[in-house]
Amino acid sequence: MEGFFLEYGNLLLRWLHVIAAIAWIGESIYFVMLDLSLHAPKGEHSKRLGVYGEMWAVHGGGFYHNQKYLTNPAELPNDLHWSFWKAYTTWLSGFGLFMLLYLLKADIYLVNPASPWEWARNMSGTEAGILAVLFLVVGYNVYSRLCRIISPTVNHDGWLSVAVGVMMVLVAWLTTQIFPGRAAFLITGALMATCMSASVFFWIIPGQRRMVKALKAGEKPNPLDGAWGKQRSVHNTYFTLPVIFLMLSNHYSFTYSNEYAWVIMSLFIFAGAVIRQYFVLRHTGKNDLRYPAAGVIMLALIGWIAAPSPATPVAGLASGAPAQAAVTIEQVHGIIAARCTECHSVKPTQPGFAAAPAGIMLDTTAETLQHAAQIKLVVGNQYMPLANLTKMTDEERAVIAAWSGQ
Ligand code: HEC
Repeated sequence: MEGFFLEYGNLLLRWLHVIAAIAWIGESIYFVMLDLSLHAPKGEHSKRLGVYGEMWAVHGGGFYHNQKYLTNPAELPNDLHWSFWKAYTTWLSGFGLFMLLYLLKADIYLVNPASPWEWARNMSGTEAGILAVLFLVVGYNVYSRLCRIISPTVNHDGWLSVAVGVMMVLVAWLTTQIFPGRAAFLITGALMATCMSASVFFWIIPGQRRMVKALKAGEKPNPLDGAWGKQRSVHNTYFTLPVIFLMLSNHYSFTYSNEYAWVIMSLFIFAGAVIRQYFVLRHTGKNDLRYPAAGVIMLALIGWIAAPSPATPVAGLASGAPAQAAVTIEQVHGIIAARCTECHSVKPTQPGFAAAPAGIMLDTTAETLQHAAQIKLVVGNQYMPLANLTKMTDEERAVIAAWSGQ
């Protein structure tokens, strides 16, 4: 029963998380579009009021006339709309999911028995859980330090972007060495998302509060408060597509169960950023196709790196006969029954599993055949059996690799 409630809690939290993230990122994309679509005000009245830019739009059966002021609106109403709950809800629900899915079973999901580092292989579940959380806390602090040291008055934002890019490649490499691939992708995505939400919490909102306070007191706000907020907000714009990719990658084991998972992860982060850059520029009327072209090249490169290599012939099979024809479904299903059905069954016997994970049941040969392609993929890239709990041998993997899947 406990397993069922965890599973149901997972579904509800995920629902909340995805909705909050859509609302937050949707708003972020909308405001970037708005900011870059502003034109100098045309009306005399607006000019006199000091309007910086305006945009007309038609939507939902009506016309909208947005006007942006920098730090000098003549008066501020009390019912000012603030944006922060969407960011906080996304982070909190995401962290809740991380606790439920990874921290509760940290010994299976966060300890990497194949890590090249002995200390990482020998970590307990608790230690791995603490280390994962430290990645988020320390990672955000390093990012924030970089902003403060490299571009303190928003004067070297180009160099800052380079430094943040290098930092993300380093994080991608470190996490894939320490944690299992799936967790490494998630932790890197969660770190980027933590930088985004923490920037809203520690920089963007406090800066805006100081600006509002100064305006209400009839003083001139410090323009750096606006500039620092904008700097973080610009980073958030380029983080959105990579973060969404890293969250989705969890369902595609070919991305992270790969020797070069850190290269794949880095390429996805940069591909997301350049594709976003194309849309950012488009709002200003530019149509620079070099950005999506660079993105497409990176995505093609990922496909090339991630594609499984052709099956290696199985040693010990009757010589002369084509290897694939030699492996029978009975042989394969025998291996599956021994190594997979503890978890992938109508009634899993592995403790903590209330239902077949990922909805995949492998009790019968028909089911094994139905999932042939997926089975070959996850066994080939060593993602399954999970943490090799059921101790599958290399010979068994070779048999499955040589199986034609029919
Ligand atoms: C200890 C439990 C356990 C064992 C043993 C196990 N699995 Fe899994 N399997 C899981 C879990 C948990 C997931 C869901 C993880 C996820 O969402 O990626 C999963 C997911 C999968 C998926 C879907 C992966 C995807 O990319 O969506 C396939 C296919 C799969 N397992 C096949 C197998 C095969 C084949 C074996 C035996 C060689 C096996 N599993 C053994 C726990 C197990």
